[in-house]
Amino acid sequence: MTSAATVDPLLRVRGLEVVFPGSRRVLHAVNGVSFDLARGETLGLVGESGCGKSTIGRALLGLVPEPGQVVAGSIEVDGEDVTAAPPSRRRELRGAKLAMVFQDPMSALNPVMTVGAQLREALGVHTDLRGRKADDRAAELLALVGIPAPRDRLRAYPHQLSGGMRQRVGIAMAISCEPAVLVADEPTTALDVTVQAQVLDLLRRLSDGLGMAVVLVSHDLGVVAGLADRVVVLYGGYVVEEGTAEDVLTAPVHPYTAALIGSRAEIDGPRPDRLRAIPGSAPALAGPALECPFRPRCAYAEPACRQGNPVLETVRPGHRAACPVRARALAGAAGGAA
Ligand SMILES: Nc1ncnc2c1ncn2[C@@H]1O[C@H](COP(=O)(O)OP(=O)(O)OP(=O)(O)O)[C@@H](O)[C@H]1O
Ligand SMILES: [Mg+2]
Repeated sequence: MTSAATVDPLLRVRGLEVVFPGSRRVLHAVNGVSFDLARGETLGLVGESGCGKSTIGRALLGLVPEPGQVVAGSIEVDGEDVTAAPPSRRRELRGAKLAMVFQDPMSALNPVMTVGAQLREALGVHTDLRGRKADDRAAELLALVGIPAPRDRLRAYPHQLSGGMRQRVGIAMAISCEPAVLVADEPTTALDVTVQAQVLDLLRRLSDGLGMAVVLVSHDLGVVAGLADRVVVLYGGYVVEEGTAEDVLTAPVHPYTAALIGSRAEIDGPRPDRLRAIPGSAPALAGPALECPFRPRCAYAEPACRQGNPVLETVRPGHRAACPVRARALAGAAGGAA
């Protein structure tokens, strides 16, 4: 499968498959996911809980948790296939080329080490900065992520900081070695609304200012709309739609994308109590889909939707969706209007 994006992408993911073997069955969490990411670009990975967002993010760093396994596909960073790299090389690449910001900043920070000691440790692995120079750089990083009085904060322990400050430290750790790709997994979910906006603004400044490419994992389409250049929509571990943020969020083709956008409108609108506005439940991920995985919940389903899992097809330049039924209907409507 080819992706519509760039000629020479910084990150190139092809046919990624991740499974979690269980005692009774194998869970197919990521099913043949492909996408590209260009330098300086922000890509939003969106979809409901359990659709495989974090698993993809972790797979990029070689950090799929046990008993999970990457069973197929390739992940190329700057032309190097990291899935084929030995563990020592993967460790080198983490931090230097790829780094991750986690939803819960505490999980990335060591509670018994000061912020300064942790930053010095990160710098020690990937740079030759030591002693005073490492301290200077650590303070510089804290200043960069908007932490006031950064010198003093180097002596603080994570529990002495607010949630927003901890997430900023998590981001400072992640960018300490100037990775080419930053994977941010729900970076603001644990934060309150005003702090969320500040952290998102920080991510925007970092990608604009440092030219860093960002994979932004989020279930929040508002966050994605504000930050992402392109969007990949996942359903049951499959990519169902992909395109520029504007195309996907304002002119969605796949009924699932439309439903996600609709459910957000409903959250913002008259029914703030209805958090799960898409009726039905997410697919079981028991094995390769033999029909459209969204069919049981889809308002547009036709008998043909049972005949195999639709592949992504180009609906307009740079915009692909895995729903021939809607693609045809929308093309017909556009043709009729012209
Ligand atoms: N360590 C694990 N062991 C077994 N199954 C796992 C593990 N981690 C994830 N899974 C399963 O893989 C699937 C994808 O999970 P993942 O965490 O990637 O989803 P997600 O899109 O990030 O969801 P959320 O929005 O809730 O964070 C889910 O069915 C989940 O239960
Ligand atoms: Mg997740």
